[in-house]
Amino acid sequence: MAYTIHVNGVPRTVDVDGDMPLLWVLRDELDMTGTKFGCGAGLCGACTVHLDGTAVRGCQTPVSAVGDGKVTTIEGMASDPIGKRLQAAWLELDVPQCGYCQAGQIMSAASLLAQTPHPTDADIDSAMTGNICRCATYTRIRAAIKHAAGGTP
Ligand code: FES
Ligand code: FES
Repeated sequence: MAYTIHVNGVPRTVDVDGDMPLLWVLRDELDMTGTKFGCGAGLCGACTVHLDGTAVRGCQTPVSAVGDGKVTTIEGMASDPIGKRLQAAWLELDVPQCGYCQAGQIMSAASLLAQTPHPTDADIDSAMTGNICRCATYTRIRAAIKHAAGGTP
């Protein structure tokens, strides 16, 4: 069945099964490979994208559930004011190690800052708890979120 979804401000039509997770629509149908596959079970956060500004797991979101919602991916962060600040902070503080989890980390951080511009440590821990980093970059992630929020790292 054909579905038209809005990704980073652009309508995209795909002809897929309605059960196909948004993650696979992005990666396999739209060649947007910035969003990563980690666990496929909603446990790691590597596939995090925004649906109407809220962080959701792409692997757990069937394309049929997207409807008219606005999907934003890591590819859209370069033109998003919060995304720009986060990406600059990530670079400045040299956050990534292998990098695999980092797109999902930035998407969760962007959703957090949109809702809570000056998060406390507890806010950050709560918002980021579902994003796993096998390289344990958590300390730098927290510092970079604070840096992007305008505080000191
Ligand atoms: S791949 Fe979606 S949460 Fe792990
Ligand atoms: S930087 Fe390697 S998994 Fe997070």
